[in-house]
Amino acid sequence: MELSKKVGKAELNYDGKVYPFDVMEGTEKERAIDMRALRKETGAISFDPGYANTGSCHSEVTFIDGEKGILRYRGYAIEDLAVNCTFIEVAYLLVHGTLPTQSQLSKYSRLLNRHSLIHEDMRNFFENYPEHAHPMAILSAMVVSLSSFYPELDSSSSEEELDLTVARLLSKMRTLAAFSYKQSVGEPHVYPSSKLTYVENFLNMMFYTPVANYEITPVLVRAMNKLLILHADHEQNCSTSTVRMVGSAGANLYASIAAGICALWGPLHGGANQAVIEMLEYIHKEGSGVEEMVKRAKDPDDSFRLMGFGHRVYKAYDPRARIAKTSCEEVLNQLGIEDPLLGIAMELEEKALNDPYFKERNLYPNVDFYTGITLRAMGFPMNMFTVIFALGRLPGWVAHWLELKNDPDKRIGRPRQVYTGPVHREFVPIEKRG
Ligand code: ACO
Repeated sequence: MELSKKVGKAELNYDGKVYPFDVMEGTEKERAIDMRALRKETGAISFDPGYANTGSCHSEVTFIDGEKGILRYRGYAIEDLAVNCTFIEVAYLLVHGTLPTQSQLSKYSRLLNRHSLIHEDMRNFFENYPEHAHPMAILSAMVVSLSSFYPELDSSSSEEELDLTVARLLSKMRTLAAFSYKQSVGEPHVYPSSKLTYVENFLNMMFYTPVANYEITPVLVRAMNKLLILHADHEQNCSTSTVRMVGSAGANLYASIAAGICALWGPLHGGANQAVIEMLEYIHKEGSGVEEMVKRAKDPDDSFRLMGFGHRVYKAYDPRARIAKTSCEEVLNQLGIEDPLLGIAMELEEKALNDPYFKERNLYPNVDFYTGITLRAMGFPMNMFTVIFALGRLPGWVAHWLELKNDPDKRIGRPRQVYTGPVHREFVPIEKRG
């Protein structure tokens, strides 16, 4: 792994003493002050809730410039990848660091196909979930269960074993996702087919039923590939940091990914795509204008936030949201669907972007703002939106887990705290309490 360069010194004047710290610089000229010796040297810790100013690792996977709205996987612009690649090409890129040649891609696709089934005993697990169980709950449990059926990677694993484990996870998680859905609607599971591509297979496993025709059209395949590519990685976000945190304790790949799935479920993270549709549906059904929503979002006494808006890193338009918006319009046009929620979303976006509150805070639509409308048009129920995000994010999680494993600076993730509880208290026996 490429480590950053030392490019200077920063000084901390604390308690009458001056402490020098190295200044580091990455390949895109991002700077960081190396605080690793802070507590040892000064006795104090840095305080940074939400880690907004904290770099937790070196990484070669993804670059984001939030001020300029730039996103690149392994150096390639998201705009180029979304238009020119399939999701599997991008997954290969994230995991291996290079785009595959045609023969590498064919070999990889064959591997994915070969490992797309899950152990039949695992299919029984689905039966014990209650009707309408959220597919994210089922998916996270199923992914961690893979560790009891399939071997784990260890430090002696070869390149081939790595490929096999990653292909197994990519392929089986898609099968598990589709089975979770079929279970939640009480329909028979549809097995993967070696005649179909990764995305075609997913659509078929989701929507085929023995009693109705399901046509896998190029527009659906293109849109699905694009959606998965847009979600494939986003550097040290909440779920990826969770995968790294769990992995830093030495947990296996399946357990680390299952933890990432749980983190992604939250409405402030991947769960926002479902929350956006709920918000748009509320506006539509209640007939409340978008002004009311914008007003509520600005009210400091109201916990409501405009879902699909704002981002920790982007202080400009999220490049993924721009691609997602175009793709959404394309899908609706080609399928001949007129969804009133699209009109409401566009009106909401326009109102917010012209409002001083949102302007001053640099709040723009994020990736989740338009993806839900596309998924709805494609036939996905709302509770599957975050599952699809998880499928897309999987190669990114894997790439980070592998990077962590080989990181010479790796340490167990363990932040500190500033304790504000009671100081030492005398113990009181139970009969004397009251
Ligand atoms: N609606 C209204 N106000 C907002 C919103 C929003 N969606 N997002 C941020 N703000 C305001 C905050 O209230 C805060 O205002 P203040 O300075 O007056 O206190 C200011 O903007 C900064 O917000 P923070 O909460 O400090 O930003 P943070 O980086 O911690 O949070 C987050 C980022 C969680 C994405 C936030 O913008 C949010 O909750 N958005 C809505 C949920 C969402 O869409 N999540 C998906 C994110 S993308 C992803 O994970 C795939």
